[in-house]
Amino acid sequence: MKEKFERLEKLRKEALKSGGEKKIENQHKKGKLTARERIELLVDEGSFEELDMFVTHRSTSFGLDKQKFLGDGVVTGFAKINGRPVALFSQDFTVFGGSLSEAHAEKINKIMDMAMKIGIPVIGLNDSGGARIQEGVVSLGGYAELFLRNTLASGVVPQISAILGPCAGGAVYSPAITDFIFMVKNTSHMFVTGPNVVKTVTHEEVSFEDLGGADTHATKSGVAHFALESEIEVFEKIRNLMDYLPLNWRDKAPEKEFDFTKDLTVKELDEIVPDNPNKPYDMKKVIEYLVDDGEFLEVHENFADNIIVGFGRVGGVSVGIVANQPLSLAGVLDINASIKGARFVRFCDAFGIPLLVLEDVPGFLPGTDQEWNGIIKNGAKLLFAFAEATVPKVTVITRKAYGGAYDVMNSKHIRGDFNYAWPSAEIAVMGPKGAVEIIFKKEIKNSKTPEDTLNQLLEEYRERFANPYSAAERGYIDDVIKPSETRTKIVNAFQLLKTKVDNNPKKKHCNIPL
Ligand code: HXC
Repeated sequence: MKEKFERLEKLRKEALKSGGEKKIENQHKKGKLTARERIELLVDEGSFEELDMFVTHRSTSFGLDKQKFLGDGVVTGFAKINGRPVALFSQDFTVFGGSLSEAHAEKINKIMDMAMKIGIPVIGLNDSGGARIQEGVVSLGGYAELFLRNTLASGVVPQISAILGPCAGGAVYSPAITDFIFMVKNTSHMFVTGPNVVKTVTHEEVSFEDLGGADTHATKSGVAHFALESEIEVFEKIRNLMDYLPLNWRDKAPEKEFDFTKDLTVKELDEIVPDNPNKPYDMKKVIEYLVDDGEFLEVHENFADNIIVGFGRVGGVSVGIVANQPLSLAGVLDINASIKGARFVRFCDAFGIPLLVLEDVPGFLPGTDQEWNGIIKNGAKLLFAFAEATVPKVTVITRKAYGGAYDVMNSKHIRGDFNYAWPSAEIAVMGPKGAVEIIFKKEIKNSKTPEDTLNQLLEEYRERFANPYSAAERGYIDDVIKPSETRTKIVNAFQLLKTKVDNNPKKKHCNIPL
């Protein structure tokens, strides 16, 4: 028996060597951790249970039969994060650049299949050159099987991807199907093809960082939801994010204890909206006043910052927050803001996370750039996402709710459960100036004193529409509340809505305007 144990120990040791000392050294030199070091830092101490440590590839082409590494470039298994189970895989760049072989794919697919049956999130730590070139179509097949699993798991269990090295080809398309993508500045890259191929095909000279670095994807393309300074920050953030998420679509997100006897009045909120309706204010401050302990986990912080999305707790309940940001483009809805908001709303709805909407929006952004790039179909994404969402939905209109944006931002008409407005709310088809110039065009033109007529009409319009009361008269707003009362109202609303049930008609699946 002793010999058998020794054999096992020897094999285990060999597996832990990954691609060898030199390759590990290189990995460290690049400021990157190894696959196993990453797992250790991400999960609860001692909780990782590895599977398939002894798997090797089966390829013989290009001399691969003489290059075998136990584990074949990916570490897979189960672990706990803050006491809750997850499935995870961590690609090992020291073995064939973390490239995906048939056997490597089988390992990932195995833990994905198990995660689906158990109903737990999947976290992928990606550091891979994509399909293993020497294996040809077999590795492409492996990727396709992974893409299929990513797709089928979407909306069943949360899927989180960390990009921790140069990821190309399939190594970016699999993460792209998942719910959240984390990147590290300067050491992680995502592209369909790298700078060399770009140069050959389009004659563009571009660096790794500019083409597919963390900042590029967090600000320009919106592919990355988080761009952080180090791998350690990525792991901390993933652990933090996990606290707001359920394990699967049938599970409830973890709730924190809350003292309901506390006075929830927030006096500071009464001072936050400026008297001048054209002056901006920071909606993030409003969010921080409204969530428990001021803790807000912002998602997609640097992309389309005219809309804010992220997670917080209200009365202990995990909620997804969608808010217009008057500090950026006056909070207008454009293509990127609509896409960002829609994807977030759909994630929350898929996983039963209630939605809190804070609204101050002058409308959709006009112009040829927006029209030609499809603001109609892209704006419709956000409308569609809010309309189909059946989770508890609470809206607070802090100031402007003009035009289509009033309808879109979780209005009562598309099943908002509790819709509140502050006394500063302005709810109408459009802002006073635009409206008066259209409907009183002739009167203003024919007037002997056009300026005075315009001002008088503006005053009348403001009196009639630049307030929340005509909406409240119809019950489109459930109540007009003082800003300082908002936290009390939303804490109560989310408690009451805990047992809410609403369903969409049966169908194969919807056809969101893509
Ligand atoms: C096999 C690979 C590999 C791959 C890297 N390696 N990518 N081996 N298949 N796809 C190996 C290298 O040969 C090298 O081995 C080691 O990994 C490290 O690679 P380097 O090039 O030395 O590292 P670096 O300079 O950091 O560059 C990393 C890289 C580059 C940017 C990822 O290697 C690269 O461009 N690789 C190819 C990317 C790609 O085009 N993949 C195919 C995508 S198609 P040694 O032994 O020398 O250390 C695809 C299809 C999926 O994925 C379908 C999508 C829809």
